[in-house]
Amino acid sequence: MRVLLTGGAGYIGAHTAVALIEAGHDVLIVDDFSASSPEAVRRIETITGAKVPVLAADARDKTALLGFVREHAPVDAVIHFAGLKAVGESMAQPVRYYDVNIGTALTVLEVMAETGIHTIVFSSSATVYGDPAPEALPLTEASTTGIDLANPYGKTKRMIEEILRDAAAADPRLQAVSLRYFNPVGAHPSGLIGEDPVGIPNNLMPILSRVAIGSMPGVSIYGDDYDTPDGTGLRDYIHVTDLAAGHVASLERARDGYAIFNLGTGKPVSVLELIEAFRLASGRPITATVAPRRAGDVASSYADPGKARRELDWSAELSIDQACADYWRWQERNPAGYRG
Ligand code: UFG
Repeated sequence: MRVLLTGGAGYIGAHTAVALIEAGHDVLIVDDFSASSPEAVRRIETITGAKVPVLAADARDKTALLGFVREHAPVDAVIHFAGLKAVGESMAQPVRYYDVNIGTALTVLEVMAETGIHTIVFSSSATVYGDPAPEALPLTEASTTGIDLANPYGKTKRMIEEILRDAAAADPRLQAVSLRYFNPVGAHPSGLIGEDPVGIPNNLMPILSRVAIGSMPGVSIYGDDYDTPDGTGLRDYIHVTDLAAGHVASLERARDGYAIFNLGTGKPVSVLELIEAFRLASGRPITATVAPRRAGDVASSYADPGKARRELDWSAELSIDQACADYWRWQERNPAGYRG
């Protein structure tokens, strides 16, 4: 298959590009590099030995996107990663988040319709489950979701899911898949590609990594009084290599209509457990201090990954320890990310 990756130079996009090429597919990337680097594309090419055509543009630029797709026709499928993803920023700039995230998804669907592409896989998020009741865990694809989510970022994910559902209902040729990611961590084992957050990171593993390398003084544990075994938040941390393989499986097994899959491990890990795993993997001290809960955080979120196992023949295989070791290798070899 020839697959267009919007946002293909980003963290999950770059790992998926490698997995697709290694599975025998051709990859094209459109990325505006607002939160990623052209160097990521060069590294994808180094790992795979393949040449990856790139359009440096905002995916809302319909004329540019149409030209790129026609130039590389026939394109068989799109994996739509592009979008803004900072929860806090989305609360301060809601209109921008709706404009970029919804606008990009609509443009991608229009370009697909005009060029005869009938398969789309979308980067959704476990954030669509909101704050799950304890009895709702582990989360299945049928678990309650809300449009009344705490932040505009999460709402855009939920809205785009519904847009895809409606588009698939209207066009019997369309194959549309939403992948609800749990917490992506880790990096490619080569140490050549990895997560490269712009500015101060918000997520736990990039913060632990910066503390370990000495560019942040310590990590705040956001609450140790949750109703969880050690009082800290539980999450389902999934290695980005496993996540990338989930995209390949969902493309290769896509069926007519609309489908949703959780991509997670099914294993809850606490903040304290992740700190300890990263300390061991890096061999560096990590200063951690208990702080108040972070607004908007949920106590626990982890997947029932059974549907993806049954229908995609996919399951996560890599451990948290492996994810920490791989993240640390990437961090040590690229202390300033793709810029250094
Ligand atoms: N945490 C800390 N200290 C930190 C950062 C995080 O204790 O400095 C804790 C959080 O409270 C949470 C866990 O570590 O218990 C994981 O936090 P992350 O920020 O890494 O991940 P989240 O689960 O909060 O975020 C994820 C996705 C987002 C998504 C969000 C919705 O990364 O894209 O879920 O809740 F929007």
